[in-house]
Amino acid sequence: MPVSRPFSRTLKIAPSILAADFANFGAECRAVEAEGADWVHIDVMDGHFVPNLTFGPAMCAALRPHIKGVMDVHLMIAPVDPCVEAFARAGVNRLTAHIESGPHIHRTLQAIRAAGCSAGLAINPGTDTGAVPHLLDDIDLICVMTVNPGFGGQTLIPAMMAKIRTLRAMIADRPIHLEIDGGVTEANAAALVAAGADVLVAGSAIFKGGNAANSAAYGANIRALRAAAEGR
Ligand code: DX5
Ligand code: ZN
Repeated sequence: MPVSRPFSRTLKIAPSILAADFANFGAECRAVEAEGADWVHIDVMDGHFVPNLTFGPAMCAALRPHIKGVMDVHLMIAPVDPCVEAFARAGVNRLTAHIESGPHIHRTLQAIRAAGCSAGLAINPGTDTGAVPHLLDDIDLICVMTVNPGFGGQTLIPAMMAKIRTLRAMIADRPIHLEIDGGVTEANAAALVAAGADVLVAGSAIFKGGNAANSAAYGANIRALRAAAEGR
């Protein structure tokens, strides 16, 4: 069953396992959690909505026993609706669907909540925020794509800083997380938090320099990112 927690805007670091060892996902998830990760971010790609293929509900179900906390599942797939039940049964906590994934995003968000998951809304770099006010009652998280989705290791697009500020103002005091995904590093973390982010997804910045058997580097990377984000 999904784990539900009270809302808090305390900074959360969410390693993306897209940058982990694909032959060792269970141990990689246990390692980043033990080293201080708040959530584990799982990038589901279909080779159609985005030009890359990763994994599906069976993978999420297999990982569930290896992740104590939040499984934050980012669906880069279209259509979304036929897959919602299967991901919910896999025990994921949040399903984030793209606003660009189909003509009926409101129905998709309702289906995600009806399946017992919290609902996230992801927005590509080239997409305007105009529809977001109409969806605020139906979401628990907004994921601002700061790179074009599909691949890890890209550079954050600077024009997204203004979009983050716009969305933070739209959220106001609603219990909606503002998550940043793509190109997050120690160098930009403080600016992202200042713009309004409370969840930082990071793949390369966290998994660099270590492995599941030697995970001290993951801990150092997570602490460094958190310290930078908090301006310490
Ligand atoms: C991109 C994914 C991201 C990606 C981030 O489509 O949604 O979660 O793994 O990777 P980095 O942090 O390397 O940009
Ligand atoms: Zn992602």
